[in-house]
Amino acid sequence: MTLKLDTLFINANLATMDPNIDAPYGAIEDGAVGVKDGRIVWVGRMADLPEYGAEKVHECDGGWMTPGLVDCHTHLVFGGNRAQEFEQRLQGVSYAEIAKAGGGIMSTVNATRGINANDLYQEASTRLIDFLYQGVTTIEVKSGYGLDMSTEIKMLEVARKLTEDHICVRTTFLGAHALPPEYKDNPDAYIDLICNEMIPEIARLGLADSVDGFCEHIGFSPAQIRRVFEAAKKHGLAVKLHAEQLSNQGGAKLAAEFGALSADHLEYIDEDSVKAMAKAGTVAVLLPGAFYYLKEAQKPPVNLFRKYGVPMALATDCNPGSSPITSPLLILNMACTLFDFTPEEALAGMTRIGSKALGLDRKIGTLEVGKSADLVVWEINHPAELSYWVGDVANMNRFYKGVSYE
Ligand code: NIG
Ligand code: FE
Repeated sequence: MTLKLDTLFINANLATMDPNIDAPYGAIEDGAVGVKDGRIVWVGRMADLPEYGAEKVHECDGGWMTPGLVDCHTHLVFGGNRAQEFEQRLQGVSYAEIAKAGGGIMSTVNATRGINANDLYQEASTRLIDFLYQGVTTIEVKSGYGLDMSTEIKMLEVARKLTEDHICVRTTFLGAHALPPEYKDNPDAYIDLICNEMIPEIARLGLADSVDGFCEHIGFSPAQIRRVFEAAKKHGLAVKLHAEQLSNQGGAKLAAEFGALSADHLEYIDEDSVKAMAKAGTVAVLLPGAFYYLKEAQKPPVNLFRKYGVPMALATDCNPGSSPITSPLLILNMACTLFDFTPEEALAGMTRIGSKALGLDRKIGTLEVGKSADLVVWEINHPAELSYWVGDVANMNRFYKGVSYE
């Protein structure tokens, strides 16, 4: 029987990242991938390729094909930057001290409130190009620099619009990122606003796929986040959480209790909470860029995640305060040098596991029959090169993307 294809990729080494293939990186050397209607319909060795008819044949010249990279945690849409706070921090003022003095997230909130949607879009799409050229095909973008209804909606609309630029965007409502000054004497009233007005309206407009919060002494308490999660669930939205970044507040346990897609940062998590995450299937999203940029000393307990089988994703956390980084490949390298990941774990963290952190693991994240034809071809000799080069690969990837989430 003839295999009917729209596109066939030939002479590629495949880092399928499929855990069912018993080889590092789920590798198939001298491989081919067949695509029909935006989906992968055939994966295997060139030698096993059946008789086929294809509209297009792409010669991959022995390059390595991987699933498109997934950056599952970013704050890509924001106004202004915080270079002056960087100078302050280098003089010894801490991230938390700057936040308490009204800077930090609040200074970006002021800049984001003051910029119009077009300019906000232009700035974000300029940054997005860096991701695109480093093989990212799916990116999560959070709101959280508005902290009022209209600016949060403006950010989410800008993020949704970025989808048009050849990349899939998942949006996350992060109203519980910081306490806006208007509510400084009554934080619970701000939580009321999030739960009773913002989440219902954002859900009604279909602007967010999930809801996030910042559970921290400079953010919100577990009791406040619990209310936000309850509202999210009521409106059919998935949840995730910035947890245990600067201290242990019990956020990861709360996230697990709510079946969160992910708990993120996690430098200060304890063993019991790791077990709770394992039981709930909640992904640990690790963010070595923020760890590096804030000069943190406490590392996330990677060995505990391994021991209890908590899947570990990696992301840039691109944001103007703690991780002004637009290079996913730099993050792969940092995960190896700072968090003792293997290059294979790093690549899994930005493909298969990253897709799980967004609830997209049935659609993308591996080169497998039935998955979306969401793939990248790199001119490298071994997949470890993606972690080995610091922040780039010597020869840019060639980019074939046929994303279809349906
Ligand atoms: O993921 N921790 C909270 N949120 C961001 C930082 C936001 C900012 O500083 O602007 C983070 O690190
Ligand atoms: Fe973040």
